[in-house]
Amino acid sequence: MIISKSHPVSVQIQERLLLTQSGSTKHTFHLSLDIRNSGLTFKVGDSIGIYAQNDPILVQHLISAMHADKDDRIIDPRSGTEISLWDFLSAKANLSRVTSSFLKLFHAYETAHDKKNQLHRLLQTENKPLLSQFLSTHDPLDLLKEYQSTQTPLQELCAQFGPLLPRFYSIASSPKAYPDQLDLTVALSTFTHSGEQRYGVASHFLCHLAEPMHTPIPSYIQSTPHFTLPEDGSTPIIMVGPGTGVAPYRAFLQDRLATGATGKNWLFFGERNRQSDYFYENYWEELVQGNKLELDLAFSRDQPEKIYVQHRMLSKAKQLWSWLQEGAYFYVCGDAHHMAKAVEATLVQIGQSQGQMSEEAAKAYVKSLRTQKRYLADVY
Ligand SMILES: Cc1cc2nc3c(=O)[nH]c(=O)nc-3n(C[C@H](O)[C@H](O)[C@H](O)COP(=O)(O)OP(=O)(O)OC[C@H]3O[C@@H](n4cnc5c(N)ncnc54)[C@H](O)[C@@H]3O)c2cc1C
Ligand SMILES: NC(=O)c1ccc[n+]([C@@H]2O[C@H](COP(=O)([O-])OP(=O)(O)OC[C@H]3O[C@@H](n4cnc5c(N)ncnc54)[C@H](OP(=O)(O)O)[C@@H]3O)[C@@H](O)[C@H]2O)c1
Repeated sequence: MIISKSHPVSVQIQERLLLTQSGSTKHTFHLSLDIRNSGLTFKVGDSIGIYAQNDPILVQHLISAMHADKDDRIIDPRSGTEISLWDFLSAKANLSRVTSSFLKLFHAYETAHDKKNQLHRLLQTENKPLLSQFLSTHDPLDLLKEYQSTQTPLQELCAQFGPLLPRFYSIASSPKAYPDQLDLTVALSTFTHSGEQRYGVASHFLCHLAEPMHTPIPSYIQSTPHFTLPEDGSTPIIMVGPGTGVAPYRAFLQDRLATGATGKNWLFFGERNRQSDYFYENYWEELVQGNKLELDLAFSRDQPEKIYVQHRMLSKAKQLWSWLQEGAYFYVCGDAHHMAKAVEATLVQIGQSQGQMSEEAAKAYVKSLRTQKRYLADVY
């Protein structure tokens, strides 16, 4: 059977290391998955899709709040197969999101007048802002606790949960260098809900819950057709990847070393603090020592003003422009919301200053790099 989103294969973590040092303001992990005999095949630049499991503590709280038993049988609303409540809530259901259909169900079965009226009010078309506010501040457990006497039938309740979707992680190793393993760089996602610290589902599962050499992790490869190394190994590459955005470049460089590719390599890496957040420092520094890598670093919180990768690009504008003139491929990976846009705008600025172009012409130049598949982005 072909491995895919609907037919994932189970792999296990063989090694998990905390990359950030003590004193760091974040937790980012290096994971090595054992893919021997898994059938997973990939190229550098691809990502892996993984199906996480929800935190068993949260699952237990939900089952108690439902006044149910973990072994109760329900029908999984998506596959139509019978499954235990525990398995459903652990692996199939999105436990983070309440939708208005949950409220409609609770409204239908609520018997206490004041509570029924509350739900009725929230569901009125003219109260949309109130509803949005409620949905963004409550999760299903909050709802079950708030309406604990509502007798919603278990099957109907389970049918309201959205599916637990796969999460993607850039592959940080080359199969040419390490055919039996698949490495990842995973930042633990943290946030506050009702004043309590919470973790993102998949990053918590990968960084804390999954037991090395034990927990099966259903996985498949999410291929990125263009975000990969140039076919011609002599082509120079410029890689911009702050934070976990650096992951695919570890794979690129392993690959280029394994194949003896002669092209020049240039990495722009950025993180918060050099002392605690300089991931894979030894690897990059060894490559620099061996004249295999040009490296520019931007530690944003080591000084009062922010220094980001795009500031380093600007300070090396002349050299960067000359690499582009030599036919370099330009890669950007990591945060889509701010970083990738700022990096693109900086490239336009470099086109203007170094290529003596108008803003319009520089934008057209960057666009043409995209069309030629020499400007490649993998952002999230
Ligand atoms: C192509 C691609 C490649 C990627 N590569 C990497 C990579 O190499 N490394 C990496 O670390 N990540 C990577 N990501 C991101 C990764 O897929 C996940 O999105 C990330 O790990 C967060 O997932 P999570 O399940 O831990 O968090 P989720 O549970 O999805 O939560 C995400 C965020 O939603 C908010 N949130 C969730 N629930 C609540 C709630 N109840 N109340 C309030 N806010 C809430 C929080 O802000 C939280 O941080 C990649 C994404 C893509 C698309
Ligand atoms: N939704 C958001 O607003 C948001 C923001 C950041 C990250 N994220 C997500 O969080 C996850 C993990 O992030 P990560 O650990 O990979 O690293 P990250 O949080 O993206 O941070 C890596 C480095 O990038 C810097 N940075 C922040 N804004 C930047 C910008 N506009 N331009 C250039 N660099 C910038 C950070 O600096 P400072 O932190 O010191 O500013 C830090 O030094 C990713 O999934 C990412 O998409 C989301």
